[in-house]
Amino acid sequence: MKIKSRVKDYSVEFVDDLLKKKEEIFRSLDYDKLVFFIDKNFHKLYEKQVERFIGKEKAVIIPATEHQKSYSKLALYYRKLIEMQFTRKDILVTFGGGVLQDLSGFIASTLYRGIKWIFFPTTLLAQADSCIGSKTSINFDKSKNLIGSFYPPDKIFIDTSFCRTLTRADFNSGIGEIIKFHLMSDEKEYCRLLRYLSQDDLFENRYFNAIVKSTLKIKYSYFKGDEFDSGRRNLLNYGHCFGHALEAASNYAVAHGEAVLIGMGFANLLSLKRGIMSTSKYEEFERLISMYYPKFDWDLVSIDEILYHLKRDKKRVGKHFTMVLCKDVGKQFKCDDIKEKEIRSTYKEFVSKYEGKI
Ligand SMILES: NC(=O)c1ccc[n+]([C@@H]2O[C@H](COP(=O)([O-])OP(=O)(O)OC[C@H]3O[C@@H](n4cnc5c(N)ncnc54)[C@H](O)[C@@H]3O)[C@@H](O)[C@H]2O)c1
Repeated sequence: MKIKSRVKDYSVEFVDDLLKKKEEIFRSLDYDKLVFFIDKNFHKLYEKQVERFIGKEKAVIIPATEHQKSYSKLALYYRKLIEMQFTRKDILVTFGGGVLQDLSGFIASTLYRGIKWIFFPTTLLAQADSCIGSKTSINFDKSKNLIGSFYPPDKIFIDTSFCRTLTRADFNSGIGEIIKFHLMSDEKEYCRLLRYLSQDDLFENRYFNAIVKSTLKIKYSYFKGDEFDSGRRNLLNYGHCFGHALEAASNYAVAHGEAVLIGMGFANLLSLKRGIMSTSKYEEFERLISMYYPKFDWDLVSIDEILYHLKRDKKRVGKHFTMVLCKDVGKQFKCDDIKEKEIRSTYKEFVSKYEGKI
């Protein structure tokens, strides 16, 4: 897949046995040295192969927590690179999910005003969604992704077999984004999603690689021509307005894509209550989404905390709340006139009906 970007064009390649292919991957690239940023859990799980891959190059092992994506932690990683005498002829190479991606991407875009960066996504969410689109983000104070830049990796290489070792919650987090993108596409892609989800094992089945690829293609169709998120790309926030607020209010007790699933359920209920979505469509979508809702203790959060974070949502404009609502497959639109009392009443109803299945 070749992706056009106003920052720099880049590519995505699917590779089997990636950890055995260092030579092949780096052979054609011009660089002095590599420095690796590696997700701590990934490193532990694949230690021998990863160490072989790193060879004599330097590596920084980083725990994938939202707290790493912070203003205060950034200094530590800039310092490490500078102390390693990283130059613009070197390449930063990241193995990890969305957290390592956001952190590395932000550093890559700002250190020396831009360095070379290669990304090997290791979670389903990063492979099917976040690896493309050029966004990099840092959390600020208690709010999600408030600081960031647009800076894609130079190259992305995906080995989907890495998903085999994900926890159920992290796998379902990727499924959450996969569902979102297919609900934002068309009937053909929606049928592809239903066919894929009807399998017993969502990793070990013949539709798996195809669904990861179709998710990337749908995402590209949304940001092609709107990379800097001023129009159509905004719609990809379907499920994210409430989802981000829930993540932050619960101190990240739910994985990102699971929060997006809950956020889509919330947006759909609000759409139903506004008469935008029909009851039959609402029930059809809810049956699908709720299969992957995580168990969540709603006593961990309050509506006031959720409202606090919704108010700080970077997508909000005007004096009311902003949310992407939905009518049907491929029919989402941004609403900037949502009143506090509408959110409170939807919340009450949503929480009272909520059943986490896992
Ligand atoms: N930049 C973007 O465009 C974009 C888009 C969507 C989400 N995000 C961000 O991505 C983050 C979520 O990303 P994520 O879901 O990949 O989570 P993550 O990076 O936190 O990884 C989830 C967990 O999986 C572990 N892990 C990584 N690879 C593994 C493997 N192969 N096997 C077993 N465990 C593994 C990690 O250590 C972590 O515990 C959020 O911070 C979100 O805001 C960014």
